[in-house]
Amino acid sequence: MDLFRRKSVTDLQTEALTDHSLKRVLGPVNLVTLGIGAIIGTGIFVLTGTVAAQNAGPGVILSFVLAGVASIFAAFCYAEFASLVPMAGSAYTYGYATLGELFAWIIGWDLILEYALGATTVSIGWSGYVVSFLNGIGIHIPPELQAARGTVVTLADGSSVTALFNLPAVFIIALVTSLLVIGIRESANFNNFIVFVKLAVIVLFIALAAQAVDASNWTPFIPENTGVRENFGWTGVMTGAGIVFFAYIGFDAVSTAAQETRNPQKDMPIGIIGSLLICTVLYIVVSAVATGVVPHRDLDVPDPIAVAADRAGLGWMSQLIKLGAIAGLSSVILVMLLGQSRIFWTMSRDGLLPPFVQSVHPKFRTPWLTSIVTGIGVSIFSALLTVREAASLVSIGTLLAFVIVSCGVLVLRIREPELRRPFKAPWVWFVAPAGAASALYLMISLPWRTWQRLLIWFAIGMVVYFGYSHRRARLGLRAGEPARR
Ligand code: ALA
Repeated sequence: MDLFRRKSVTDLQTEALTDHSLKRVLGPVNLVTLGIGAIIGTGIFVLTGTVAAQNAGPGVILSFVLAGVASIFAAFCYAEFASLVPMAGSAYTYGYATLGELFAWIIGWDLILEYALGATTVSIGWSGYVVSFLNGIGIHIPPELQAARGTVVTLADGSSVTALFNLPAVFIIALVTSLLVIGIRESANFNNFIVFVKLAVIVLFIALAAQAVDASNWTPFIPENTGVRENFGWTGVMTGAGIVFFAYIGFDAVSTAAQETRNPQKDMPIGIIGSLLICTVLYIVVSAVATGVVPHRDLDVPDPIAVAADRAGLGWMSQLIKLGAIAGLSSVILVMLLGQSRIFWTMSRDGLLPPFVQSVHPKFRTPWLTSIVTGIGVSIFSALLTVREAASLVSIGTLLAFVIVSCGVLVLRIREPELRRPFKAPWVWFVAPAGAASALYLMISLPWRTWQRLLIWFAIGMVVYFGYSHRRARLGLRAGEPARR
């Protein structure tokens, strides 16, 4: 049983650059907007307030800097791989080329947590914002259909009902899935539009609310620790970094569009690093403005940015910010589902998933069947889970992928130093270990319960791998080809 057989980088490059099953229509600007589409979402619109109020005070700005730096290290590693092996499988394919089939499977299985569960988490947040936005304009969705099954929803008159399922969350998943089936160009155009809306709202907030900043709200910059590790002080800032890391998830999803990009070797690094840098700057400025306008203790609300706008005397912006958040979350869901279907598609072409997953629509040239099956699966979880249950698993899954990709870059530099790398991670002997170590550190800061769930998820993954995938793997079935070690 050869668990560590590898795919050759040269074979993968040939496959990546000559395969035209999917439509190659994306350029550098589309990739940057795809990245921004995936990155800006729940994190900035919700977590900024929670972390400022409970963990770091105005030091949330530093939490954003630290999580941003950790993400930049990983982004350089992703960019090196994505330009070298521009395949839709992203980290899964990089794992196949460097660490072998078993690791590739582990990463592929792990990425389900980042992409499918990520889309689930964000669709639940989307539902919350839509319900609140619609309430604001006098449209009321029945409370039984607003939240996960069993959740107690308190009504305006103080009475409560038990929810049946989350209808808006299912609705957005169905809408985005239909778009993904229709076409990559249509999906990218829709994404461009909503990214424009959310950026406009954020820039407007910064420009107008900045005038109401009262610098005394930034002192003390890091409130004294209360004696509990995560409550303020430096340890609070670090815990805050672990939490706001969620806000950066998504730049790596750009790499899953590699086989739909015209010139991936040049444009992948631009999309991955460009989108991350833009979002990092925006996050730092937004968190500075929000904590400068509102004393940090008052930011522990579900819509901290809207509250900051209100305090800045911009009450009229509140609905606009909700609209920006709804747009923001829609594009995160779009890019996450896009990424998930492309990873499944690649795994199926390698034989690790059933053949129907790789079927491409004759007219739309999209992996339509896998998009639909993924959409159905995600909408079931969206209807039934709560955000808290899903979010920490998304973070731990993503961080694990970062650790493996950062290590993989070094392994490949050592094993195949002569490969022509269109983009090289700068100071790789520092950047890659720093990327792996910082992601590992953030993983360790997550609760033990999250680790238990991760282990259960992998136990299920191993059953599927040994029961189906390993025996069907195309690499293992190719007659006469010696397995690589
Ligand atoms: N980064 C994405 C968000 O904040 C996942 O919603």
